[in-house]
Amino acid sequence: MHAEIAVLPGDGIGPEVTAAAVAVLNAVARHHGHMFNLHEYAIGGAAIDACGDPLPAATLVACRDADAVLLGAVGGPKWSAPEAKVRPEQGLLTLRKALGLYANLRPVQPHPATLGASPIKPHLLAGVDLLVVRELTGGIYFGEKSRDGDIARDVCEYSVAEVERVVRRACTLARQRRGHVTSVDKANVLETSRLWREVATRVARDEFPDITLEHQLVDSMAMHLLSKPRAFDVVVTENMFGDILTDEASMLAGSMGLLPSASLGDGRVGLYEPIHGSAPDIAGRGIANPIGAILSVALLLRHSLGLDAEASCVEQAVSATLDDGVFGADLGAATPANTVAITRAVLHRLDSHCQVAELRD
Ligand code: NAD
Ligand code: IPM
Ligand code: MN
Repeated sequence: MHAEIAVLPGDGIGPEVTAAAVAVLNAVARHHGHMFNLHEYAIGGAAIDACGDPLPAATLVACRDADAVLLGAVGGPKWSAPEAKVRPEQGLLTLRKALGLYANLRPVQPHPATLGASPIKPHLLAGVDLLVVRELTGGIYFGEKSRDGDIARDVCEYSVAEVERVVRRACTLARQRRGHVTSVDKANVLETSRLWREVATRVARDEFPDITLEHQLVDSMAMHLLSKPRAFDVVVTENMFGDILTDEASMLAGSMGLLPSASLGDGRVGLYEPIHGSAPDIAGRGIANPIGAILSVALLLRHSLGLDAEASCVEQAVSATLDDGVFGADLGAATPANTVAITRAVLHRLDSHCQVAELRD
């Protein structure tokens, strides 16, 4: 297969983990006879430095024309002054919106080998397999923002159509899993959440009678996620709740550095990025965990290119790497592997797993 992939390394550890993901994509192409054309474009702080715009027109055009976008991370202290006129994060938000990527899939599956790295007791983690579907182009992130003297305002708005489409996506995904959806809101306080709950209830009842839908308030959900993570299958929620709950959920897996994401719309192109940020505290030291970025490649292969077998190869190679105890400093390893060592370990295991797949073909 031939595919055009736009690569947006961004800032901080973004370029470090993106290099690992690109190496994996190239290895998959080699093994399976695919032609992936990868081209790099600027986004975030790097783009502000280069041309004053966190999402240059050339980057947006290339992303629209691509089959998939692979992104590292954006942001950092250099561009974060409260009075800054342009921000790296605006580049990412504008890109998500412009591509219509309203559903952000964030799978959380703690690996048996990393259970000890989580602050949560291992017996609560065994068998956890949840998928958070975060609404990505609405809510308080995109409402009107203003400042009048001593007062600041961020408007939170959702339309029926915005809730319907993301809930449909979550229910459709649940059909391929265990058929259970937890919709998370704050309907005891927020009007947007009351609309969310109403719409989620109707969509599930009318269109997905085979799916079990339950509702949870976001504050107690933050607690249940730690006390009974196995109870959840698909979790669907609005933009900001999903952002916060998935950083929390990453600790079930043991580190922020492990979790991938896929941002999808109704169109062809998807955007794939680890859930973590630019990690300024460790940037430039070559110690970032590249696994979240590498697993994002697996999601890219599956969701944008329809290459399920190749996606599974990548996931198996990562799993085998963790099985063999190749851990970064973020997982508390006594002798931690750095970014390059983890990447090499995955590539090595990819070789053997992909060869097995080729023999079967
Ligand atoms: P962060 O996710 O960058 O880092 C949080 C903590 O996790 C840090 O201690 C960091 O060292 C660690 N960490 C994150 N990724 C890691 C990895 N791959 N390997 C090992 N350790 C890892 O969050 P932050 O520090 O709050 O934000 C820093 C900047 O990143 C901000 O400018 C923020 O806006 C931006 N950000 C960008 C994205 C994105 O591009 N999608 C996501 C989140 C935050
Ligand atoms: C994420 C990040 C972004 C978000 C920021 C950088 C805008 O935290 O992708 O999780 O809040 O969506
Ligand atoms: Mn986040």
